[in-house]
Amino acid sequence: SNATPIVASDSPALKFHVFAKCSTTKARASLMKLPHYDVQTPIFMPVGTMGTMKGLTTEQLQDLDCHIILGNTYHLGSQPGQEVIEKAQGLHKFMNWPRGLLTDSGGFQMVSLLKLANITEKGVEFENPYNSEKMLLTPEQSISLQNTIGADIIMQLDDVVSSLVTGERVVEATHRSIRWLDRCIEAHKNKSTQNLFPIVQGGLDSELRKFSATELSKRDSPGYAIGGLSGGEAKDSFWRMVSISTDILPDNKPRYCMGVGYSEDLVVCSALGVDMYDCVFPTRTARFGNALVMEGSLGLRSGKYSNDFRPIDENCTCLACKKYTRSFLHTARVPTWIINALQSVKIDLTVADENGYSAVAVDEDVIKGIV
Ligand code: GUN
Repeated sequence: SNATPIVASDSPALKFHVFAKCSTTKARASLMKLPHYDVQTPIFMPVGTMGTMKGLTTEQLQDLDCHIILGNTYHLGSQPGQEVIEKAQGLHKFMNWPRGLLTDSGGFQMVSLLKLANITEKGVEFENPYNSEKMLLTPEQSISLQNTIGADIIMQLDDVVSSLVTGERVVEATHRSIRWLDRCIEAHKNKSTQNLFPIVQGGLDSELRKFSATELSKRDSPGYAIGGLSGGEAKDSFWRMVSISTDILPDNKPRYCMGVGYSEDLVVCSALGVDMYDCVFPTRTARFGNALVMEGSLGLRSGKYSNDFRPIDENCTCLACKKYTRSFLHTARVPTWIINALQSVKIDLTVADENGYSAVAVDEDVIKGIV
């Protein structure tokens, strides 16, 4: 759009233009201009672990109107490794993906996937599952890897603890994450082509969250993430931590809530002022044979669909819904055809009012209960 933004920021590799704000919630609709693509937000980023969205070509992802996807430094750094990605001239070229790309820093994946990770001030120590060698991922190495991968947005290495942990360990992790952020900023070599996002931590402690968000905001980064959530805590405390964070993070920069992907959370967090999300939920759910629909999900592997010749969703225009029946998908078990246009792509939460301003389709009482 060539409309004038109402709020904007202009970083070397990211221009953020907010075009509409909700009058009753903190929701906004914006354009985030990245080196490889102009991304409309709010946006959901599907996760492609080894440089692929399993079972889909990058052309199909573009046909789904997918603007930006996520890759993991941890997986790519171990396999195929930094040298191969360097020879391939980065992940965009390697995987033939011309649009937006974001990489997570690796620490969270190691801590969540391998219980063996040991965290010290130097970094995250772990055993490489591909060859059992002891490895140390430092903030500097994570950034070096992410500089080689070349994503439009890269993430700081953070010290992530489960959202259910309380006490001194959370305080330590919050402070260490800020120290690691400064090491990441120092190590980042491609400031004019790649955007480094800090990550708010602080567990479920309001004061620690405020402290973390305030410290990060002083760094003048192109965008900010909210981490350490969606790990089994109650919804109201998760949403409250998001709200506390968005109240402090700069209004003219994109905000990314990490690891969030349930429809309800996407709507609520957008109303709390979040612009970006990622989660393995829709792709993993699809691989396990479940199709997401407005009412919940359909477990297509169940025998009751063997004779059901209706589409997954009669009102959906995605390839799977337009061209295939539940019966066929039950029999053929082609998991990723079921990736839902509902969640894998742009989230259409915004509806224009008579003045052209957007509102988010969410019950205001839900939001009032949080803030
Ligand atoms: N993915 C989901 N939550 C987090 C987090 O807190 N930190 C990182 N680096 N990745 C995440």
